[in-house]
Amino acid sequence: MTISRRNLLKLTAAAVSVPAFLPVAFGQDAPNSRLRVGAIGVGGRGTYDAGLHAQHAELVAIADLDKTHAAAANQQICAGKAEELTDYRRILDRSDVDVVCIATPDHWHTKICLDALAAGKHVFCEKPLTLTIRENQVLREAVKARPKQVMAVGTQRRCEIPRFTRAVNMVHQGILGKIQRVVVSLGKPPYVTVAPPKDQRFKVVPVPPEFDWNTWQGQAPEFPYMKERAHSTFRGWFEYAGGKVTDWGAHFLDTALWALGEDRPGRGIVWVDPSDCNFPLPMKDGFPTEFDYCNVPYDFYVKMKTLGGIPVDIETRLDNGILFEGERGRIFVNCGKITGKPIEEEWDKEYYGESELRRIFKGKPVTDHMTNFYSCIRDGGEPVSDVFSHIQTMTALHVINIAMRLGRTMTWDPQVERFPEDAQANTFLTREQRKGFEVC
Ligand SMILES: NC(=O)c1ccc[n+]([C@@H]2O[C@H](COP(=O)([O-])OP(=O)(O)OC[C@H]3O[C@@H](n4cnc5c(N)ncnc54)[C@H](O)[C@@H]3O)[C@@H](O)[C@H]2O)c1
Repeated sequence: MTISRRNLLKLTAAAVSVPAFLPVAFGQDAPNSRLRVGAIGVGGRGTYDAGLHAQHAELVAIADLDKTHAAAANQQICAGKAEELTDYRRILDRSDVDVVCIATPDHWHTKICLDALAAGKHVFCEKPLTLTIRENQVLREAVKARPKQVMAVGTQRRCEIPRFTRAVNMVHQGILGKIQRVVVSLGKPPYVTVAPPKDQRFKVVPVPPEFDWNTWQGQAPEFPYMKERAHSTFRGWFEYAGGKVTDWGAHFLDTALWALGEDRPGRGIVWVDPSDCNFPLPMKDGFPTEFDYCNVPYDFYVKMKTLGGIPVDIETRLDNGILFEGERGRIFVNCGKITGKPIEEEWDKEYYGESELRRIFKGKPVTDHMTNFYSCIRDGGEPVSDVFSHIQTMTALHVINIAMRLGRTMTWDPQVERFPEDAQANTFLTREQRKGFEVC
């Protein structure tokens, strides 16, 4: 059976109708009503995510190092009924909590995931899952070792029909012919530009009384408090995140590698040329030399090659989205549209049927992202946004950042997960971690 274009468009958002042959499980999920969830990190995204979890399970506890964030999320989502905590480990101690949702900044993700898995919880963690390639490896093994616990990543675009799944399916089905090039466009980072003059840089200010800045820094080196290092704008600092590369690359390079079949273990990118890349501050040996402004690149055009030999560019200068160029045609997809001649002429209409959607959803019902996670907890199976494919994308993204930081072309061996010809680059596979906050 084939889904018509009209029906495909109806499937765009979560709260939409689905063809009769697909068992639907959007929204409220009665059989899971006895599951209990704890939310860890409830800033912008965590509050949104916790609200989605609360449609599938009872939100019983919220932990945040900023007490105002915990209180606000508690009021907004469950009229203040959840337990409010600062230390996430108290959520893991609760034997009645089945699931945790993690939406802290990136430098805390792996540590909390490892602790939550060890405590026997099902885990939903926001992208990007890791800060280093070493974290990728340790987390991958931890998830493999616990096949009865479900873990999903917040890469919700893997469930988005018809745009991202349609683009991926078109490539998988060979509808564009052999793929010749992919361009992954991330858009300009809103949190970083070229550094302003010294007197206009970020200032050290007193830590707000409701905020535990020391713990927030976690494994990262200790710095005096600047509010721009913390909530939301942490993305602009290598100490806590990976800039636009990991922030949006976790979505869009994920789609590209998924489409190319390069998101499987042992595959991915093998060569990176970061020569066209601009940092806001001077860098030395991969580290910033000044500390009062963001340090991730604000502008770049990086060229790569996959193990399968396909050129993939990742950049900040074009419209945010992914361009697939094949021998037979090209398509562009982003969060708002999918365009190109093959789309206008519906070249794929014979191919985008029930079996293709089921393949993409790994045999599970076609649903939104969160419903997919809870249906795996209830019925078994692997989430569409699984840890293993995400880790392949994260590896590529960390490799790109390492190449940009060191400012030279590099080769990468995805089988042994090392830079075969660059000893200095291999020192970036892991990081020094602050005493008392070691991850792995
Ligand atoms: N899937 C998506 O489309 C999407 C969208 C936005 C953000 N995100 C991801 O969500 C994560 C959070 O982003 P944000 O914009 O909400 O950041 P944010 O700074 O607004 O919120 C993070 C919250 O985590 C808290 N926190 C930090 N360390 C903690 C710890 N150890 N224990 C408990 N709480 C802790 C902070 O106090 C803060 O309230 C990021 O990793 C980001 O990439 C994903």
